[in-house]
Amino acid sequence: MRTAIMAANWKMHKTAAEAVAFAEAFLPLVAEAADVEIVVAAPFTALDRLGRALDGSAVALAAQNVNAEPQGAFTGEVAPGMLVELGCRYGIVGHSERRSLYGESDATVASKALALLAAGIRPILCVGETLEERESGRTLEVIGGSLAASLAGVPGERADELVIAYEPVWAIGTGKTATPQMAQEVHGFIRSQLAERFGDSAESMRIQYGGSVKPDNVAEIMAQPDIDGALVGGASLDPDNFSKIARFAQQES
Ligand code: PGA
Repeated sequence: MRTAIMAANWKMHKTAAEAVAFAEAFLPLVAEAADVEIVVAAPFTALDRLGRALDGSAVALAAQNVNAEPQGAFTGEVAPGMLVELGCRYGIVGHSERRSLYGESDATVASKALALLAAGIRPILCVGETLEERESGRTLEVIGGSLAASLAGVPGERADELVIAYEPVWAIGTGKTATPQMAQEVHGFIRSQLAERFGDSAESMRIQYGGSVKPDNVAEIMAQPDIDGALVGGASLDPDNFSKIARFAQQES
């Protein structure tokens, strides 16, 4: 049985004060949420105060990026140990915006995932195909290649600490969602690839779907057998919306 994991990815939104205000509104809304792990990935500048606001709650703090080096002359970068001290339990690596806007390769993503694991932070590792790749029938080939290269060096005994996020690039922030069946096809494929790489651990690894997840489509997405959570951008900025998404199985009818 895999515990669902619902993660907010705020991207470059919310000041520290706005993050605290979110926490104050959000925590009462999910106080009764059961059988689900809730994660909020905030900008670096909000992590300290947000972490304090979440302290004592079941909501986990996450970073959106990290540098793979432990320290050094890397102006503007943030090391894994700095995130540990702030209480981050998860870190997103390889988001498509990092890959496309900041040139992160699968090899970079793999080194970041390893650095997080070494620091004791669980990576949320993202993969996804572009519209052109999907339309040319290459989705599974692209996902398989990117996944294998992004997992390079991850030791089998740490596999169950990883979360994989499947985010079709054409569905991110566009209002277009993969149909639950389209998403399930890729999630099933990802699990088969994880089984080849990590054996039985693949059954306990969680695979999130991301791309225009909203309160009104989350239930059908989460009903798919290989979808174990969601990575949510736009709809996670509002406490009410994200609480509905996080409580997908407990919506009042
Ligand atoms: P979206 O973003 O929910 O706004 O589509 C998802 C993501 O990029 O993680």
